[in-house]
Amino acid sequence: MRLDKFLADMQIGSRKEVKKYIKGRLVRVNGQVVTSDKTQVTEEDQILFDGQPVIYQKYFYYLLHKPQGVVSATTDRRDPTVLSLLKEDAREDLFPVGRLDKDTEGLLLITNDGELAHRLLSPKKHVEKEYFAKIDGIMTKEDVAAFAQGVTIDGGEETMPAELTLLTRDETTQTSEIRLILHEGKFHQVKRMVKAVGKKVTYLKRLRMGSLVLEDSLKLGTYRPLTADEIAQLQVTNEEKSLRNNQTT
Ligand code: URA
Repeated sequence: MRLDKFLADMQIGSRKEVKKYIKGRLVRVNGQVVTSDKTQVTEEDQILFDGQPVIYQKYFYYLLHKPQGVVSATTDRRDPTVLSLLKEDAREDLFPVGRLDKDTEGLLLITNDGELAHRLLSPKKHVEKEYFAKIDGIMTKEDVAAFAQGVTIDGGEETMPAELTLLTRDETTQTSEIRLILHEGKFHQVKRMVKAVGKKVTYLKRLRMGSLVLEDSLKLGTYRPLTADEIAQLQVTNEEKSLRNNQTT
Protein backbone atom coordinates (compact mmCIF):
# COMPACT_ATOMS: atom_id res chain seq x y z
CA MET A 1 0.00 0.00 0.00
CA ARG A 2 1.09 3.62 -0.47
CA LEU A 3 3.02 5.15 2.39
CA ASP A 4 0.62 8.08 2.79
CA LYS A 5 -2.36 5.70 3.05
CA PHE A 6 -0.49 3.50 5.53
CA LEU A 7 0.28 6.47 7.80
CA ALA A 8 -3.24 7.87 7.52
CA ASP A 9 -4.74 4.45 8.26
CA MET A 10 -2.54 4.22 11.35
CA GLN A 11 -4.08 7.55 12.45
CA ILE A 12 -0.84 9.57 12.16
CA GLY A 13 -2.85 12.32 10.48
CA SER A 14 -5.16 13.04 7.58
CA ARG A 15 -3.97 12.03 4.10
CA LYS A 16 -3.05 15.70 3.47
CA GLU A 17 -1.15 15.99 6.74
CA VAL A 18 0.86 12.83 6.28
CA LYS A 19 1.87 13.92 2.76
CA LYS A 20 3.33 17.05 4.40
CA TYR A 21 5.15 14.96 7.00
CA ILE A 22 6.65 12.79 4.26
CA LYS A 23 7.78 15.83 2.24
CA GLY A 24 9.13 17.31 5.50
CA ARG A 25 11.47 14.25 5.85
CA LEU A 26 9.78 13.05 9.05
CA VAL A 27 9.23 9.51 7.81
CA ARG A 28 11.78 6.69 7.46
CA VAL A 29 11.19 3.32 5.84
CA ASN A 30 13.67 0.62 6.84
CA GLY A 31 16.14 3.22 8.04
CA GLN A 32 15.96 5.50 4.98
CA VAL A 33 14.23 8.87 4.85
CA VAL A 34 11.65 8.77 2.07
CA THR A 35 10.13 11.86 0.49
CA SER A 36 7.67 10.30 -1.95
CA ASP A 37 4.16 9.65 -0.63
CA LYS A 38 3.76 7.05 -3.39
CA THR A 39 6.42 4.80 -1.83
CA GLN A 40 4.94 1.30 -1.53
CA VAL A 41 5.14 -0.33 1.90
CA THR A 42 3.91 -3.54 3.52
CA GLU A 43 3.20 -4.62 7.10
CA GLU A 44 6.71 -6.05 7.21
CA ASP A 45 8.48 -2.73 6.60
CA GLN A 46 9.88 -0.85 9.58
CA ILE A 47 8.34 2.60 9.48
CA LEU A 48 9.31 5.46 11.74
CA PHE A 49 7.40 8.71 12.10
CA ASP A 50 9.38 11.44 13.84
CA GLY A 51 11.66 8.72 15.21
CA GLN A 52 8.79 6.62 16.64
CA PRO A 53 7.87 3.21 15.18
CA VAL A 54 4.45 3.07 13.52
CA ILE A 55 3.06 -0.35 14.34
CA TYR A 56 0.68 -1.79 11.79
CA GLN A 57 -2.82 -2.25 13.16
CA LYS A 58 -5.38 -3.90 10.95
CA TYR A 59 -8.50 -3.55 13.06
CA PHE A 60 -9.86 -0.62 15.02
CA TYR A 61 -12.52 -0.78 17.73
CA TYR A 62 -14.39 2.12 19.28
CA LEU A 63 -17.13 2.33 21.87
CA LEU A 64 -19.53 5.15 20.95
CA HIS A 65 -22.14 6.63 23.29
CA LYS A 66 -24.78 7.13 20.62
CA PRO A 67 -27.05 10.12 21.08
CA GLN A 68 -30.60 10.39 19.72
CA GLY A 69 -31.01 11.81 16.22
CA VAL A 70 -28.23 9.90 14.47
CA VAL A 71 -28.76 6.71 12.51
CA SER A 72 -26.74 3.49 12.85
CA ALA A 73 -25.62 3.37 9.24
CA THR A 74 -22.50 4.20 7.26
CA THR A 75 -24.36 6.56 4.90
CA ASP A 76 -27.81 8.09 4.89
CA ARG A 77 -29.45 10.61 2.60
CA ARG A 78 -31.54 12.31 5.29
CA ASP A 79 -29.99 11.94 8.71
CA PRO A 80 -26.49 12.24 10.20
CA THR A 81 -24.91 8.83 10.76
CA VAL A 82 -23.02 7.54 13.78
CA LEU A 83 -19.85 7.72 11.68
CA SER A 84 -20.26 11.50 11.38
CA LEU A 85 -19.51 11.65 15.13
CA LEU A 86 -16.00 10.28 14.58
CA LYS A 87 -12.93 12.43 13.89
CA GLU A 88 -12.57 13.52 10.27
CA ASP A 89 -9.49 11.39 9.75
CA ALA A 90 -11.10 8.21 11.05
CA ARG A 91 -10.66 5.21 8.77
CA GLU A 92 -13.12 4.93 5.94
CA ASP A 93 -13.85 1.23 6.46
CA LEU A 94 -15.42 1.61 9.92
CA PHE A 95 -19.03 0.58 10.45
CA PRO A 96 -21.44 0.19 13.40
CA VAL A 97 -21.99 -3.33 14.73
CA GLY A 98 -25.75 -3.74 14.59
CA ARG A 99 -28.33 -1.02 14.88
CA LEU A 100 -29.86 1.18 17.49
CA ASP A 101 -32.98 3.11 16.48
CA LYS A 102 -32.58 6.79 15.68
CA ASP A 103 -34.20 7.72 19.00
CA THR A 104 -32.23 5.14 21.05
CA GLU A 105 -29.12 6.16 22.98
CA GLY A 106 -26.27 4.13 24.33
CA LEU A 107 -23.53 1.71 23.56
CA LEU A 108 -22.59 1.14 19.95
CA LEU A 109 -19.47 -0.69 18.85
CA ILE A 110 -17.77 0.76 15.77
CA THR A 111 -15.11 -1.30 14.04
CA ASN A 112 -13.66 -2.41 10.72
CA ASP A 113 -13.44 -6.04 11.94
CA GLY A 114 -16.13 -7.75 9.87
CA GLU A 115 -15.52 -11.17 11.39
CA LEU A 116 -16.03 -9.96 14.95
CA ALA A 117 -19.15 -8.05 13.93
CA HIS A 118 -20.54 -11.17 12.29
CA ARG A 119 -19.93 -13.24 15.42
CA LEU A 120 -21.48 -10.66 17.73
CA LEU A 121 -24.57 -10.33 15.56
CA SER A 122 -25.01 -14.01 14.74
CA PRO A 123 -28.38 -15.23 16.09
CA LYS A 124 -26.64 -18.50 17.03
CA LYS A 125 -24.24 -16.79 19.45
CA HIS A 126 -26.96 -15.23 21.67
CA VAL A 127 -24.80 -12.30 22.69
CA GLU A 128 -26.55 -10.49 25.56
CA LYS A 129 -27.74 -6.93 25.10
CA GLU A 130 -28.80 -4.98 28.18
CA TYR A 131 -31.10 -1.96 28.03
CA PHE A 132 -32.51 0.67 30.35
CA ALA A 133 -35.96 1.96 29.38
CA LYS A 134 -38.56 4.45 30.56
CA ILE A 135 -42.09 3.25 30.07
CA ASP A 136 -45.44 4.89 29.64
CA GLY A 137 -47.44 2.51 31.86
CA ILE A 138 -46.53 0.36 34.86
CA MET A 139 -44.51 -2.75 34.12
CA THR A 140 -45.58 -5.58 36.45
CA LYS A 141 -44.45 -8.90 37.92
CA GLU A 142 -46.71 -10.55 35.34
CA ASP A 143 -44.66 -8.85 32.62
CA VAL A 144 -41.47 -10.18 34.22
CA ALA A 145 -42.94 -13.70 34.05
CA ALA A 146 -44.15 -13.19 30.48
CA PHE A 147 -40.75 -11.91 29.29
CA ALA A 148 -39.06 -14.85 31.05
CA GLN A 149 -41.16 -17.18 28.87
CA GLY A 150 -40.77 -15.14 25.70
CA VAL A 151 -43.59 -13.10 24.19
CA THR A 152 -45.31 -12.90 20.82
CA ILE A 153 -44.50 -9.56 19.28
CA ASP A 154 -46.49 -7.89 16.55
CA GLY A 155 -46.18 -9.74 13.30
CA GLY A 156 -46.50 -13.01 15.22
CA GLU A 157 -42.81 -13.55 15.99
CA GLU A 158 -41.87 -15.35 19.22
CA THR A 159 -39.04 -13.84 21.23
CA MET A 160 -36.54 -15.81 23.24
CA PRO A 161 -36.82 -15.59 27.05
CA ALA A 162 -35.59 -12.21 28.31
CA GLU A 163 -34.71 -11.00 31.82
CA LEU A 164 -36.81 -8.04 32.88
CA THR A 165 -35.99 -6.14 36.08
CA LEU A 166 -38.47 -3.60 37.48
CA LEU A 167 -36.60 -0.53 38.69
CA THR A 168 -39.10 2.20 39.57
CA ARG A 169 -42.84 2.85 39.32
CA ASP A 170 -44.70 6.13 39.64
CA GLU A 171 -48.41 5.62 40.23
CA THR A 172 -49.18 9.33 39.81
CA THR A 173 -47.75 9.63 36.31
CA GLN A 174 -48.41 5.96 35.47
CA THR A 175 -44.82 5.50 34.33
CA SER A 176 -42.07 3.03 35.21
CA GLU A 177 -38.41 2.24 34.53
CA ILE A 178 -36.94 -1.13 33.66
CA ARG A 179 -33.78 -2.98 32.76
CA LEU A 180 -34.02 -5.69 30.13
CA ILE A 181 -31.51 -8.29 28.98
CA LEU A 182 -32.09 -9.77 25.51
CA HIS A 183 -30.29 -12.72 23.97
CA GLU A 184 -31.14 -11.85 20.38
CA GLY A 185 -31.59 -8.73 18.29
CA LYS A 186 -34.90 -8.52 16.48
CA PHE A 187 -35.91 -5.26 14.80
CA HIS A 188 -37.21 -2.74 17.41
CA GLN A 189 -37.25 -5.64 19.85
CA VAL A 190 -37.48 -3.81 23.17
CA LYS A 191 -40.23 -1.49 21.93
CA ARG A 192 -42.17 -4.38 20.43
CA MET A 193 -41.87 -6.55 23.56
CA VAL A 194 -43.11 -3.71 25.76
CA LYS A 195 -45.94 -3.07 23.30
CA ALA A 196 -46.84 -6.77 23.49
CA VAL A 197 -47.68 -6.28 27.18
CA GLY A 198 -49.72 -3.15 26.49
CA LYS A 199 -47.21 -0.38 27.35
CA LYS A 200 -44.93 2.00 25.49
CA VAL A 201 -41.20 2.73 25.58
CA THR A 202 -40.62 6.48 25.84
CA TYR A 203 -36.82 6.39 26.27
CA LEU A 204 -34.33 3.63 25.47
CA LYS A 205 -30.63 3.29 26.19
CA ARG A 206 -28.33 0.32 25.57
CA LEU A 207 -26.01 -0.27 28.51
CA ARG A 208 -24.13 -3.41 27.49
CA MET A 209 -23.38 -5.72 24.59
CA GLY A 210 -21.83 -9.02 25.67
CA SER A 211 -18.86 -8.15 27.86
CA LEU A 212 -18.71 -4.56 26.64
CA VAL A 213 -20.16 -2.06 29.12
CA LEU A 214 -20.98 1.62 28.60
CA GLU A 215 -19.40 3.55 31.45
CA ASP A 216 -21.15 6.60 32.96
CA SER A 217 -18.14 8.83 32.27
CA LEU A 218 -18.35 8.48 28.48
CA LYS A 219 -20.36 11.54 27.45
CA LEU A 220 -23.25 11.31 25.04
CA GLY A 221 -22.01 11.70 21.45
CA THR A 222 -18.39 10.85 22.33
CA TYR A 223 -16.35 7.70 21.83
CA ARG A 224 -13.15 6.00 22.91
CA PRO A 225 -10.97 3.16 21.65
CA LEU A 226 -11.58 -0.23 23.26
CA THR A 227 -8.87 -1.47 25.62
CA ALA A 228 -6.85 -4.55 24.64
CA ASP A 229 -8.67 -6.45 27.38
CA GLU A 230 -12.11 -5.44 26.07
CA ILE A 231 -11.15 -6.56 22.57
CA ALA A 232 -9.90 -9.93 23.87
CA GLN A 233 -13.12 -10.43 25.89
CA LEU A 234 -15.31 -9.68 22.89
CA GLN A 235 -13.57 -12.30 20.78
CA VAL A 236 -14.92 -14.95 23.15
CA THR A 237 -18.69 -15.32 22.90
CA ASN A 238 -20.91 -16.51 25.74
CA GLU A 239 -21.33 -19.91 24.16
CA GLU A 240 -17.60 -20.41 23.97
CA LYS A 241 -17.24 -19.23 27.58
CA SER A 242 -19.77 -21.76 28.85
CA LEU A 243 -18.17 -24.47 26.71
CA ARG A 244 -14.83 -23.71 28.38
CA ASN A 245 -16.42 -23.66 31.84
CA ASN A 246 -18.05 -27.04 31.19
CA GLN A 247 -14.77 -28.48 30.02
CA THR A 248 -12.99 -27.35 33.17
CA THR A 249 -15.66 -28.58 35.62
N1 URA B 1 -34.82 -2.46 20.72
C1 URA B 1 -35.47 -1.39 20.21
O1 URA B 1 -36.69 -1.35 20.21
N2 URA B 1 -34.75 -0.37 19.71
C2 URA B 1 -33.40 -0.34 19.71
O2 URA B 1 -32.79 0.63 19.25
C3 URA B 1 -32.73 -1.46 20.25
C4 URA B 1 -33.47 -2.50 20.75
